[in-house]
Amino acid sequence: MRTVDLIQRKRDGEELDKEEISYWVDGYTRGEIPDYQISALLMAVFFKGMTDREVSRLTECMIGSGETLDLSSIPGVKVDKHSTGGVGDKTSLIVAPLAAAAGVIVPMISGRGLGHTGGTLDKLESIPGFRTDLTLDQFRSQLAELGLCFIGQSEEVTPADGKLYSLRDVTATVESVPLIASSIMSKKMAEGLDALVLDVKVGTGAFMKKQVDARRLAQMMVGIGRRMDKKVQALITDMNQPLGYAVGNALEVMEASQTLMNQGPADLTRLSLELAARMIFLGKITPTLEEARALAEKNLVDGSGYRKLKQVIEAQGGNPQALDKFELLPNAIGVREVSSPRAGYVSVINAEDIGRASTLMGAGRDRKEDAIDPAVGVILEAKVGEKIDAGSVLCRLYYTREEGVEEAAEMVEDAFHVSAQKPDERELILEVVG
Ligand code: URA
Repeated sequence: MRTVDLIQRKRDGEELDKEEISYWVDGYTRGEIPDYQISALLMAVFFKGMTDREVSRLTECMIGSGETLDLSSIPGVKVDKHSTGGVGDKTSLIVAPLAAAAGVIVPMISGRGLGHTGGTLDKLESIPGFRTDLTLDQFRSQLAELGLCFIGQSEEVTPADGKLYSLRDVTATVESVPLIASSIMSKKMAEGLDALVLDVKVGTGAFMKKQVDARRLAQMMVGIGRRMDKKVQALITDMNQPLGYAVGNALEVMEASQTLMNQGPADLTRLSLELAARMIFLGKITPTLEEARALAEKNLVDGSGYRKLKQVIEAQGGNPQALDKFELLPNAIGVREVSSPRAGYVSVINAEDIGRASTLMGAGRDRKEDAIDPAVGVILEAKVGEKIDAGSVLCRLYYTREEGVEEAAEMVEDAFHVSAQKPDERELILEVVG
């Protein structure tokens, strides 16, 4: 087999078979096929797409490139939740304890923030002492004891995805639906899950800017799961404005904690409850989704989810008191207010710009190896649809160094649009797939 022939066939829109896909995935992972040929192949996939069969084969090959976790010794249904990435998306910190408090086993293997989007690991690590670098034995025993453990991806799981993702990043081939679907699903399916709930974000702050693309991605991931005999459900949710009010690691932990105390923002609470309910239902804790919704809500209102998160924080070396004594979390030293020059209704808050402003102050990273500042970020003071006066504070920037703050303030100012007309209300949960 020759790689050049595979590139040519994909370029001409043909379907590659199982052996051909294994050939290039394994060859590339072992370093036997050069970057320039795989770059060309990825670009051909970007333009010509992949059939469902191809995308499933690619996912299987990527899973086969590394280790898979065996969680069969832990009784109970294992269900994870994954978001395709957004701004202010701290739902994992709320959803995972709500589901675990209901009896679902939640092996939460999360990523770090990249670009304008945040990552669960960075948020959790803003809690003093919290460790995510547990051994697999520690992971399994915490799962058996508490039903929830948060860890990072191991280098040994899906190494093919690690290599391919780095290459996609520098060849403008990240935004390909089959490549994103296989990348996410290979990592998730290697976790030894029984079921998975996906939150596919759509809008300015998401990978997918159009609902039709988000739908295609959701359908593809649900299809991959089905062909592997796993239950997968996807919610397509709006990411045109940040979720909740807080953007930035420690700030998001505070908001997640308030939400688990049933004092969180309406949008964040609603989405978290729905995602938790889907996990509880797929985890076979309740016979119907309606009962799962009631159980998720009960675990929020009676504080069981909040107590579960505290137990998990303590088990992973963190200080659980940080969830109610916010002064124990890293704190910013300066605050810069951004006010509205005019009165009216907030009609747009460009989520990507808010995420980029937060990254500029140090909350996120442009490259994987960059360090982040857990204390900094943005707190919105108004959301889309709210009526404001001229001079009202739109948001506050929390910083630890002056560098980049003015630029971030300008970016945030541009992110807010204020109009005379009240904008139409936008649905938060747009579709359910699977
Ligand atoms: N997240 C992933 O894990 N992979 C992608 O390709 C995009 C988002």
